[in-house]
Amino acid sequence: MQRGKFITLEGGEGTGKSSQAARLAERLTAEGRGVVRTREPGGSPGAEAIRGLVVSGDRDAWSARTELLLMYAARSDHLERVIRPALERGDWVICDRFADSSRAYQGVGGGVAPAFIEMLDAAIVGDDQPDLTLVFDLPVETGLARAMGRGAAETRFESKGMAFHQRLRDGFLAIAAMHPERCAVIDATGSVDKVSDRIWATVRARLT
Ligand SMILES: Nc1ncnc2c1ncn2[C@@H]1O[C@H](COP(=O)(O)OP(=O)(O)OP(=O)(O)O)[C@@H](O)[C@H]1O
Ligand SMILES: [Mg+2]
Repeated sequence: MQRGKFITLEGGEGTGKSSQAARLAERLTAEGRGVVRTREPGGSPGAEAIRGLVVSGDRDAWSARTELLLMYAARSDHLERVIRPALERGDWVICDRFADSSRAYQGVGGGVAPAFIEMLDAAIVGDDQPDLTLVFDLPVETGLARAMGRGAAETRFESKGMAFHQRLRDGFLAIAAMHPERCAVIDATGSVDKVSDRIWATVRARLT
């Protein structure tokens, strides 16, 4: 059985990742592939329990370093229970946020040293790096306006302010530039259909 492909969707709040994860899963399923759509933080029962600790509550409930450790604890469980078994079965895994969100939020945004993050990443993710990472890029105001319109309950990260989110956007673009073989920047402006077509063209070009 050929190993499946691992695709991650990254970028700031309200850039359309979750909407496009669903679209991409539909398109791949229509091709006859086995698809597992999942998300982080979370994606397995244990990791979802940890998600509950980090996405709600007080803005400063955790230091960035502790938050990073919680994220990688969740990621470890998610990889063991969901992602690796799926890839080994030959399924394609579409994951809504993954390690680049740790690099951006806790690293660039929170000031945790990149070397510490990469040490954890090597230990926990190891060779199971994504085959393709779609980095959604959108002006911060547009993304936050979209996210507010959605009226979500999980507002801990949304509440961090414009400067934080601008730093995140720049951070995601820097991460993409550092890993050009893995990452593709997706222009997330325009309609859901337009963005979906851009993503499909990228997946086609990179993974088949
Ligand atoms: N291309 C688009 N144009 C206009 N609105 C969009 C577009 N894509 C998504 N939306 C809407 O914007 C909101 C945010 O989209 P979505 O939840 O997919 O973003 P996200 O990147 O997953 O956000 P988060 O990081 O907060 O989870 C939703 O209400 C969604 O319906
Ligand atoms: Mg989302």
